[in-house]
Amino acid sequence: MRKKIIAGNWKMHKTVAEAIALASGIVDSYKPKRVEVVIAPPFTALYKVAEVIRDTHVRLAAQNMFHEPEGAYTGEVSPIMLKDIGVEYVIIGHSERRKYFGETDTTVNLKVKSALKHNLIPIVCVGETLDEREHGITMDVVRRQILGAFTDITADAFEHIVIAYEPVWAIGTGKVATPEQAVEVHRFIREVLRNELNVEAENVPILYGGSIKPNNIESLIKEPDIDGGLVGGASLRVDQFVEIVKISDRIVGGN
Ligand code: PGA
Repeated sequence: MRKKIIAGNWKMHKTVAEAIALASGIVDSYKPKRVEVVIAPPFTALYKVAEVIRDTHVRLAAQNMFHEPEGAYTGEVSPIMLKDIGVEYVIIGHSERRKYFGETDTTVNLKVKSALKHNLIPIVCVGETLDEREHGITMDVVRRQILGAFTDITADAFEHIVIAYEPVWAIGTGKVATPEQAVEVHRFIREVLRNELNVEAENVPILYGGSIKPNNIESLIKEPDIDGGLVGGASLRVDQFVEIVKISDRIVGGN
């Protein structure tokens, strides 16, 4: 069975003290049996959060990285630095990075290659804007992003890759995609992986992201094509995030 993952993307939130409190709360509240729990604090809190979650069920992600291992790149953080402090996953190509920080399919591809080279699991984000959906080009956009992100990536490498479908119009808006809308794109992504990249697409986890809350996770995670969630706003509170993890664990377990 594909891995099921609930990942919390804290974005630009939480001081170190707040991050420690949130991470501790997540560790202490509930240990799921089937779902992997991943949290992505801001860079400044990663080191301390790594200490809090060491030897627990919670795994650590970064929200971004630069593709070079080291060098004169003021302000950037390298995959080696992330590995050094216990980071296992890295979110690549989030729509906010594409929108505000000039991330393109090309930079996403460089980062995916670098993450894999340094044994970090990239969580690669794709998704259309509202305008693109309304113009009926959702699948064209997602296909372009997938083919761009995975240019020159071997089929074997997909054992260590997670994809997140995040429709931009659903991120931070409270407008969650319907399970049907998400499933349609998840299936399409698997087709592109299978038919155009010769990947064993059945084994690649595809998460949904965009306004996941405790009251809508059940209908999404019930879908066999949806392997979990990338949670923004609701990952900033212990009660909400843990509730999402609990519900997912129950549904994945078939109850
Ligand atoms: P949201 O963010 O849950 O606040 O919509 C999701 C994301 O951007 O990963």
